[in-house]
Amino acid sequence: MSSAESSTSTNSGGRPSGDTTSSRRRSFDETYRAVADVEGWMTRAQAGRLWDAASRLRAGARIVEIGSFRGRSAIVLASAAPPGVAITTIDPHGGNDRGPQEIEGFEEAAATDHVVFWENLRAAGVDDRIDHLRLGSQEALSHYQGQVDLLYIDGAHRLAPARADIVAWGARVAPGGTMLIHDSFSSVGVTGAIVAELVFGGRFAYRGRSGSLAEYQRVPLDPARRMRNALRQAVELPWFVRNVVVKALIVARLGRLTRLLGSDGTWPY
Ligand SMILES: C[S@@+](CC[C@H](N)C(=O)[O-])C[C@H]1O[C@@H](n2cnc3c(N)ncnc32)[C@H](O)[C@@H]1O
Repeated sequence: MSSAESSTSTNSGGRPSGDTTSSRRRSFDETYRAVADVEGWMTRAQAGRLWDAASRLRAGARIVEIGSFRGRSAIVLASAAPPGVAITTIDPHGGNDRGPQEIEGFEEAAATDHVVFWENLRAAGVDDRIDHLRLGSQEALSHYQGQVDLLYIDGAHRLAPARADIVAWGARVAPGGTMLIHDSFSSVGVTGAIVAELVFGGRFAYRGRSGSLAEYQRVPLDPARRMRNALRQAVELPWFVRNVVVKALIVARLGRLTRLLGSDGTWPY
């Protein structure tokens, strides 16, 4: 059953509807090999965390991904999700907040992203598992009814939109459900949003991270657990500072110096 309320106006790709329940499901290794050439930002460990979270779901559960780019993470989620799990992806492919240092003015590239997104889903054999809303995440709220069992947030990384996603979409996460946030303790905007909404909050328990992919579970926290939860997140802040310094050195074309911080000179995520 489709989880998104609307489809024809926002779905794209002209793909057939249906389910791939009859086809043999790929293993994690096969899936990770299948996304090797799909551009995006997701390490093997992060793919593993997405895979584990999606694999735990049962038929009837619902996944929402915010920020799909060219489909790298969506393919992992859709390949791991058992039959009967509904998957909705949300991405306006509008040219804003496209990736690191690509905040505005990428309309042409983003239009290509949308086409390549569907091509990649088709090539991976998961296009018929996904309902795509080509909308901004806040606009998409009114096109999606009900709760979410697994929410993956990897859309706009500036403070205001990242915070709005955590607040509005986080409120949709079912009790016991999972919220995964990419670029946590790495992007300044996303980390600011986490500090504002989650570090001292009482609704989501921090469960750890794979690189910048942080995992939260929706559970009520009493004051004592709330304090421990804040401390568990606070210990990630030195890693955040390290990532900000690495990025500043890369922008200043001093990438070689990042070795002093254990980096290989690539953008951390
Ligand atoms: C970092 S990329 C996502 C990477 C993707 N998850 C992957 O595995 O490769 C960020 C994406 O967020 C999208 N985006 C930007 N603003 C958005 C918004 N308001 N709502 C949803 N997605 C948005 C961009 O179009 C871009 O494709």
